[in-house]
Amino acid sequence: MSTTPLFCAEPARRDTARRLAERFDLPLVGKRPTEGFWLELGDTRLALETIGKQGAVYAEFVEGAAKHRREQGGGRGQPVAKAVGLKGSQSAPYVVDATAGLGRDAFVLATLGCRVTLVERSPVAAALLFDALERASVHPDTMDIAARMTLVHANAIDWLQTLTGDARPDVVFVDPMFPDTGKSAAAKKDMQAFQHVIGDDLDTAALLESAIEAARGRVVVKRPRLGTPIEGRKPSACMEGKSTRFDLYSIKAIRPDER
Ligand SMILES: C[S@@+](CC[C@H](N)C(=O)[O-])C[C@H]1O[C@@H](n2cnc3c(N)ncnc32)[C@H](O)[C@@H]1O
Repeated sequence: MSTTPLFCAEPARRDTARRLAERFDLPLVGKRPTEGFWLELGDTRLALETIGKQGAVYAEFVEGAAKHRREQGGGRGQPVAKAVGLKGSQSAPYVVDATAGLGRDAFVLATLGCRVTLVERSPVAAALLFDALERASVHPDTMDIAARMTLVHANAIDWLQTLTGDARPDVVFVDPMFPDTGKSAAAKKDMQAFQHVIGDDLDTAALLESAIEAARGRVVVKRPRLGTPIEGRKPSACMEGKSTRFDLYSIKAIRPDER
């Protein structure tokens, strides 16, 4: 069971809280915690909360930055679109986002037409994603996009190994929390809470191997522009943006016999 408790002060939402607790194996508590981090289900959304000045953390596909990205995002010309191989009017690839986090990259790809499976192993992040997807799936501006997004609460290293035949994705997208990114120092206060609860991902080399086994077309690893690549394999190509780099692992280059 996760150590992050779930609290709900809204009588009308207690059933939903109970279902969330069961689904993501979170301890449901009857009193708002007075220390540490906790998930709180309010009348509009689920958020990760803490005492003090850090803001609440939640996944959001309808309002705020997601709305801006939907309306002004730069379409298929933006770096993440190019990295997964979205081109002109070609049909969009099926993408597994193996490190879904708060779903921002997955949402951009789904907005651009990709079917995306979001795999997330942290019960806290998975619960936040589940809540955001539920909200997006009933809002007229986002319901079509949300319909292309499927959440899987699992460790992607194992889950990717279960895929065979048509279930294998064209692209596996990987954006782990690296201990060496400096992201923690640079992260905004609210995101520090998320990083504190989730921790660093120390098994990225194994994730890259599972991703390469499962993908039919390519694996895309998102890194800070000056970050080191994942250990073990050399990328086939790199695409650099202002602050981000995408390391591409072409399956054709790794397994020339793959069709
Ligand atoms: C840096 S965040 C990803 C942010 C995400 N790209 C976004 O746009 O919000 C990394 C996330 O990947 C998850 N993660 C890391 N390794 C994983 C694995 N093997 N399986 C599933 N989730 C994983 C972590 O729990 C964390 O939530």
